[in-house]
Amino acid sequence: MVFIEALPGHVGETVEVRGWLANRRSSGGIHFLLVRDGTGLAQAVVSGKEVDAETFARADHLPAESSLILTGLVRADRRAPGGVEVTVRALTVVQEAAPYPITPKEHGVEFLMDHRHLWLRSPRQHAVMRVRAEVIRAAAAFLDGSGFLRVDAPILTPASVEGTTTLFDVEYFDLGRAYLTQSGQLYNEAAAAAFGRVYCFGPTFRAEKSKTRRHLTEFWMLEPEVAYLALDGYMDLAEAFVAAIVRDTLQHRARELATLGRDPEPLRRVVPPFPRIAYDEAREILAAAGKPVPWGEDFGADEETVISSHFDRPVFVHRYPAACKAFYMQPDPARPEVVLSADLLAPDGYGEIIGGGERIHDLALLERRLAEYGLPRATYEWYLDLRRYGSVPHSGFGLGIERTVAWICGLEHIREAIPFPRLLNRLSP
Ligand code: 4AD
Ligand code: MG
Repeated sequence: MVFIEALPGHVGETVEVRGWLANRRSSGGIHFLLVRDGTGLAQAVVSGKEVDAETFARADHLPAESSLILTGLVRADRRAPGGVEVTVRALTVVQEAAPYPITPKEHGVEFLMDHRHLWLRSPRQHAVMRVRAEVIRAAAAFLDGSGFLRVDAPILTPASVEGTTTLFDVEYFDLGRAYLTQSGQLYNEAAAAAFGRVYCFGPTFRAEKSKTRRHLTEFWMLEPEVAYLALDGYMDLAEAFVAAIVRDTLQHRARELATLGRDPEPLRRVVPPFPRIAYDEAREILAAAGKPVPWGEDFGADEETVISSHFDRPVFVHRYPAACKAFYMQPDPARPEVVLSADLLAPDGYGEIIGGGERIHDLALLERRLAEYGLPRATYEWYLDLRRYGSVPHSGFGLGIERTVAWICGLEHIREAIPFPRLLNRLSP
């Protein structure tokens, strides 16, 4: 058996290909079967001269997405997809498919989402999933190659990380209420105190009542955390990290980006240094663009789009007002009303792809913040321990995988950036 992507290395040989029928047409008494096996598409030619009458007749009626195994001679053909064509000698139909609901005509997005389990077979979804896999591979490779240890965090947790309004809760036996994690950060901080440089990677959950093109209720986050790292060092790390992900994707997934119609030129500009502006400067940009934001308020999608349109690559916005950020953010000693945080905004309205910054490392201050945010102290006792036993300044961040994939692919909506999206109004398939 040979995978389709390897067929060019088998010209002149008779091989077996196992896959599914992506498309079929007939012309001049010959049937052309376009076969997909997950590694590529190959044209298989069924001619009455090469196969028996039964096989020839069957090839003329085979429904789309039927599963099949064919044996045939590989011939070089520059016009065919993949540069080769297979002249069929034998054809086994493993299962003749029922009439396939997704046809070449236009379907609405909700119809396609209802059939997501089948839609994943289309060339466009293949391209997105292959970019997604590369983004994850490149991100992990960068960190693995930079001295980071992967130490994962639990998904069932007793406490909130990013505010109590977006928690999904679960009954947890006799122990009461558990929550699906919003972020592995708190556990990452424990791991960073144990190992210095760590990251975690996994699904995270937000009961977001927002119906936007950048919000999922379940998304994957990759979160590095580093002991003895300050805000500027965090931004250095994050920009090198994002640049490496984009560079590797351009290098390894050029064909997929072309399938998606993504212009690679803007992605080639994603090299350090990224611009770094303070929240106050971002407000000035917004005011000049006729979108004033009162000091202390967070930016929304519209504001992020205006800010990022001023730059030709991702931009950091640092030193947000403490009031619009999470309880653990370290205040700027020079100006305690702002925190040493930075969000990274992607170009073209894709919004925040990274959030992070310095964490509070002083025990008394962290205790005060927990109280101010109304968080139950007992649940965070272990987290406070990290400030009792060898506390050090430290920083970390979270990269949202789907927002990153949506940006790199140039997708209109984040729902296509994950195999099975979970949205406010969607829990299936
Ligand atoms: O800014 P966020 O909420 O930061 C944290 O959770 C930190 N605890 C991470 C850390 O410092 N270790 O989320 C980080 C990133 C965002 O920048 C965004 O890319 C993504 O996660 N994200 C979402 N992606 C899709 N749907 C949502 N509802 C998202 N919420 C956040
Ligand atoms: Mg954020």
